[in-house]
Amino acid sequence: MSIILKAEGISRTYKSGSVEVNALKKCDLEVEEGRFYSIVGKSGAGKSTLLRILAGMDRPDTGSVYVDGEDIFKIKDKDLAAFRRRKIGYVYQDYSLFPEFTGLENIYMPQALDKKDMDREEIDDLMEALEIAHCKDKLPTQMSGGEQQRVALARALITKPAVVFADEPTGNLDMASAKTVADMFQKASQHFHQTIIMVTHDQQMAELADGMIRISDGGLSYEH
Ligand SMILES: Nc1ncnc2c1ncn2[C@@H]1O[C@H](COP(=O)(O)OP(=O)(O)O)[C@@H](O)[C@H]1O
Ligand SMILES: [Mg+2]
Repeated sequence: MSIILKAEGISRTYKSGSVEVNALKKCDLEVEEGRFYSIVGKSGAGKSTLLRILAGMDRPDTGSVYVDGEDIFKIKDKDLAAFRRRKIGYVYQDYSLFPEFTGLENIYMPQALDKKDMDREEIDDLMEALEIAHCKDKLPTQMSGGEQQRVALARALITKPAVVFADEPTGNLDMASAKTVADMFQKASQHFHQTIIMVTHDQQMAELADGMIRISDGGLSYEH
């Protein structure tokens, strides 16, 4: 099994006024390719902080993150956006679709930014698999929350990134929609062999993953 993501000695302290919060304390992590991990921990435990750092969206005070063998904090700023676009998929709690674009256009967006031609068959197959074929020509406002999140997942999957991150992807959804979205994450893992790291406080969703990583007191531990 190969290691697709590795983090070493990650620390992150937030300072607000005279108060310091040590959100992460020298965290190490190894992520195996093709596996589905959930990250759990109390509110304020540092889950979002960890995810943003692993995805190269925020810098740690100390430590390194290697994605597909590349030390991401050594990549020049001007190249990091393109690296992230190709190697990292990110699913947000609030979907973050582009409101003026259709489902199809939203999914194509990362490839459009890379000046890649649209592979209509590939996108159709992905939309079919995530049960959102009917959202092709709809704007985000014309979709349910669960549909928007599945479009957001398709957008994260389309580039076949090294890792897909998701921060509480079902946090805004009712139970039925959350279940559908959760099933699609599992499908992405099982059928597409996609490496996934998902933060959730939903125990049922956490258990869909192959392995669970718990954050407490700024440190990480594995649970299976
Ligand atoms: N931008 C920030 N400025 C100051 N403190 C922050 C900031 N972001 C997060 N924190 C603090 O860091 C800790 C971890 O936050 P976060 O990573 O958002 O936790 P979680 O996602 O597990 O709820 C919390 O105590 C939070 O208040
Ligand atoms: Mg959070």
